[in-house]
Amino acid sequence: MKRIPVVIAGCGGVGRQLLEHIVNCRALHSKQGLVLRVVGVCDSQSMLVANDIFTEELNDDVLARICLEKSRGTSLSELNDIGDCQVFDYKEATMQVIDIAGLLGRSTGLAVVDCTASSETLEVLKQVIDSGCCVVLANKKPLTSSMEDYQKLTSHIRRIRYESTVGAGLPIIASVTRVVASGDSVFRIVGSLSGTLGYVMSEVETGKPFSEVVQAAKRLGYTEPDPRDDLSGMDVARKALILARLIGWQINLDDITVESLYPEEMGPNSMSTEDFLGGGLSLVDKDIAERVRVASLKGNVLRYVCLIEDSRVQVGSQEISKASSIGRLRGSDNVVEIYSRCYKEYPLVIQGAGAGNDTTAAGVLADLIDLQDLFK
Ligand SMILES: NC(=O)c1ccc[n+]([C@@H]2O[C@H](COP(=O)([O-])OP(=O)(O)OC[C@H]3O[C@@H](n4cnc5c(N)ncnc54)[C@H](OP(=O)(O)O)[C@@H]3O)[C@@H](O)[C@H]2O)c1
Ligand SMILES: *[C@@H]1O[C@H](CO)[C@@H](O)[C@H](O)[C@H]1NC(C)=O
Repeated sequence: MKRIPVVIAGCGGVGRQLLEHIVNCRALHSKQGLVLRVVGVCDSQSMLVANDIFTEELNDDVLARICLEKSRGTSLSELNDIGDCQVFDYKEATMQVIDIAGLLGRSTGLAVVDCTASSETLEVLKQVIDSGCCVVLANKKPLTSSMEDYQKLTSHIRRIRYESTVGAGLPIIASVTRVVASGDSVFRIVGSLSGTLGYVMSEVETGKPFSEVVQAAKRLGYTEPDPRDDLSGMDVARKALILARLIGWQINLDDITVESLYPEEMGPNSMSTEDFLGGGLSLVDKDIAERVRVASLKGNVLRYVCLIEDSRVQVGSQEISKASSIGRLRGSDNVVEIYSRCYKEYPLVIQGAGAGNDTTAAGVLADLIDLQDLFK
């Protein structure tokens, strides 16, 4: 049996689903000769660590209890009755992860999984890579910091996986990586990479007012608690940056032109979410409806996309041919079109659910399994 020690940072929707997938896949993994040993789990306050990381792990009962308590809003720091493990506060936790990476990096290897939404994990992750360990990310922030940090994180390319940062479980990063590795040069990527904005743009096409569609999207649970986090386009911009860097471009987040779907004066600093949804947002309806109308006269539809082409990355609403994969998009699916020498006229297209705890955690788990050959 190959034993893979894992530390999981972040125990929210994705982190908990990952723990559940790991437990549910025990039989499958064992047939493949693998055991995933969860030796530590962190939230924003603290960390639970197995008593002896070399020989023990957090057992499945403990993992189930962690999931239950975290789903009730309990902090890991309150779980000191949980049995065979130690609890560390945030500051000690950071040191713990670095220590564990140092110890296991020299022996069996270790995978640290970032399922947080924090920029604070970057420093630890760089040290984890330095110690010879592996990193798997669902969190985009570490990869969208400075170019220097990106190069540091990806300096041992076989030791890092981040499929779920773009399109959740969809094999977008893997596909682009393979195309690039074969010497086929990618010259254009167009993507609809926000389930929320995909849904919103395809619904306004049917004549519904933009503000109503955003409210419906929020009711359906498609949006962040404050829908401006989706409408600002920054999440799409981070995904676009990850793709652009993957095809070798040396650029930063602030090199990307990002169109926000709401005016600056309706930002979170000037207006509550309620006022924004209740009144502010409807001021944008006419403008969007007009742009949808103009587009349709030309056989086009309005879509919120990222466009990576000619040394430029743009994120915003664009007129797209109704006949293209992105033009035909309905609902909250993601689509990405990759154009390269081999896929010149007709792009390589990847489409499917691009969000959700389940698919995101599945993508993270597949990344972990993909790293198995690096473990002793
Ligand atoms: N959900 C999706 O559909 C989806 C799809 C693709 C990618 N992602 C990405 O996956 C990540 C996780 O998403 P989520 O929906 O699970 O987020 P979430 O529910 O907000 O959970 C975040 C978790 O990270 C913990 N955390 C925050 N800062 C931390 C730190 N500095 N160190 C350790 N833990 C920290 C939080 O701790 P507390 O519990 O103490 O608050 C929480 O447990 C995000 O980066 C997101 O962008 C999500
Ligand atoms: C993901 O998990 C969070 C936390 O459990 C939950 O609030 C959210 O509804 C889940 N999202 C989906 C799409 O299932």
